[in-house]
Amino acid sequence: MPLPTQPTLDFVTGLPKAELHLHLEGTLEPDLKLRLAERNGVDIGQSTVEDVQATYRFTDLTSFLAVYYPAMDVLQTEDDFFELAHAYLLRAAANGVKHAEMFFDPQAHTARGVPFEAVVKGYHRAAAAAADFGVDADLIMCFLRDLSAESAAETLEASVPFKDLILGVGLDSDERGNPPEKFAGVFARARDLGYRLTMHCDIDQVGSIDNIRTVLETIGVDRIDHGTNIVEDPALVAEVKARGIGLTSCPVSNSFVTDDMKAAEVAQLLRDGVKITINSDDPAYFGGYVADNYAAVAAKAGLTPEEVVTLAKNSFEASWIDEDRRAAYLAEIDRYVEQYEPTEA
Ligand code: ADE
Ligand code: ZN
Repeated sequence: MPLPTQPTLDFVTGLPKAELHLHLEGTLEPDLKLRLAERNGVDIGQSTVEDVQATYRFTDLTSFLAVYYPAMDVLQTEDDFFELAHAYLLRAAANGVKHAEMFFDPQAHTARGVPFEAVVKGYHRAAAAAADFGVDADLIMCFLRDLSAESAAETLEASVPFKDLILGVGLDSDERGNPPEKFAGVFARARDLGYRLTMHCDIDQVGSIDNIRTVLETIGVDRIDHGTNIVEDPALVAEVKARGIGLTSCPVSNSFVTDDMKAAEVAQLLRDGVKITINSDDPAYFGGYVADNYAAVAAKAGLTPEEVVTLAKNSFEASWIDEDRRAAYLAEIDRYVEQYEPTEA
């Protein structure tokens, strides 16, 4: 069966893929938020799904984060974290995700008195259980960059007893005034502890290019989250290409926090041979899981089905899995493409 002439939603949904940029707290759907609020006796100020959705008006990263963090109050017990991650992983499986490397924000919970252990154990239990429905999943612990480097360092030390449950560390939250070098010492220690390293370089920030250069050359990250402003500097594009550094783009999220999906930048980097990948970021807030993100960017940039297949291959190439599993997933993509039969009219 030849490839379809267009990368349809049906084709991209079944395409085996890895999701590498996904905030577990950003998968909190309104119905689960309301259920946990009731169970834990938390007043979130809304009582229907429509009321919750009415608060989802974002014009930039800051206005999104102002809605995002207060909602986390409903997450209190290990079971709450398990339920949240389990619900995401079921949706991911239905989106063709075979491997997920999922961010979590421990400081957003420990600052409210939730034990670190409840967060990591609940999430890890869900990750392990996802093997039953064909998803292998890992955790990446993010530091909140608008908190201090000391707080990040304390969080890093709190993670040491759970090191075997965590694959790497990342950096998220508000980039304005919180450049990567603020966390250079914390990330050096994380590297020494054996963690893989990634950092957000969000879209269209003041100093985006300087921050991308710092994460590559000073911090020595293994991957960059977002980072598509790199197109402004061809020398940095050449550097990520030569070093095989993956970028995790999130088109639907981009269109909420800026006025553009950045599809042209994704297409340019893909055609330049950079390991750019497509992901969903905070799908419960931005309304698109990973297959929707593939379909949206493909339609906007006019990507061919072959180019979409390369994006899916990039997701495994840029992932932190061992070489045997990587080869098996890449072969699974080839089999899918060879055997693809449309299920839509
Ligand atoms: N936390 C959750 N989503 C984020 C994003 N897109 N950028 C920075 N921090 C985040
Ligand atoms: Zn993100």
